[in-house]
Amino acid sequence: MTKAKTTYGIIGYPVAHSLSPLMHNAAFKELRVKAVYKLFPVQAEELEPFFKELRKKDSNIFGLNVTVPYKESVIAHLDSISPFAKKAMSVNTIVIDEDRKLRGYNTDGPGFLAHLVELEFNTRGKRIAILGAGGTTRAILASLCLIPEKPESIRIYNRTEEKAQKLVNDLSAHMDVGHIKIVPTIDDLNIELCDLLINTTSVGLNAPNETMIDGDLLHQDMLVYDVVYEPRETMLLKLAREKGAKTANGLGLLFYQGILSLQHWAGQELPSEIKNIIRDVLENGVQE
Ligand SMILES: NC(=O)c1ccc[n+]([C@@H]2O[C@H](COP(=O)([O-])OP(=O)(O)OC[C@H]3O[C@@H](n4cnc5c(N)ncnc54)[C@H](OP(=O)(O)O)[C@@H]3O)[C@@H](O)[C@H]2O)c1
Repeated sequence: MTKAKTTYGIIGYPVAHSLSPLMHNAAFKELRVKAVYKLFPVQAEELEPFFKELRKKDSNIFGLNVTVPYKESVIAHLDSISPFAKKAMSVNTIVIDEDRKLRGYNTDGPGFLAHLVELEFNTRGKRIAILGAGGTTRAILASLCLIPEKPESIRIYNRTEEKAQKLVNDLSAHMDVGHIKIVPTIDDLNIELCDLLINTTSVGLNAPNETMIDGDLLHQDMLVYDVVYEPRETMLLKLAREKGAKTANGLGLLFYQGILSLQHWAGQELPSEIKNIIRDVLENGVQE
């Protein structure tokens, strides 16, 4: 019997929409690595048996990404987690060694900051407004609190206010959250005064006409960042572009967090030509 290929993949539910296989399989091909990246749709009751299997010596899985809704709950199944993942209480990357020891990392936060660098946006002294308080917000917010280029203020609006309160409360055990204010309505975000608006909700996902924001509040002296990348231009980004604001969709975050995951699995930095090919695949699809 031939030995199964070294396997990587993404666990979550649902995962069918994920672009991660496209990106990582393209990377393996370019790197001439005999490995495959798969989708692992895992329901809540299957999580524990999945991790039991992962511990077995004959498992051929050596790395995983983690997505909705398990970024927090996988932590209980790991042997160790990185200091940043511990502070954010969110793991999106797992490295599995030959002894089947599992180490967790979070690359969403550093990936988001890397994209801000590419966009030439310095957070120091800036006024930031955030829509949402889900799993993605956790890593983004933690990195914005820990970065030396400290923003002046961060305002958060979430449809379910208690979730925003729990998020900030959790982070307060590990970092200064004194400049964060949870606001009860979108109007209180003061979008017309902010330098960076980040949509971390799924509003606009596969819904090109959906947005929570009144376009008249957007202005040309701001960056509007939407973590959604399907469609590439959400209604929020369209309104922002029409007002002359700088815009960015979630493909940059997807790219940087994925590159950082790959680097954790490979234990080394990827050559820039490979990174460029992966970016091209994400932006334009695979050219046969
Ligand atoms: N670009 C990337 O690489 C990347 C990475 C991760 C995630 N994402 C995208 O980010 C989005 C959020 O992911 P997540 O993991 O943070 O999900 P999540 O933990 O389920 O959080 C979803 C967030 O969206 C809010 N929301 C959902 N529907 C809403 C509605 N109709 N009106 C107002 N608020 C609504 C939720 O508010 P409540 O708390 O009130 O429910 C919550 O704040 C998804 O679209 C995901 O695809 C992109």
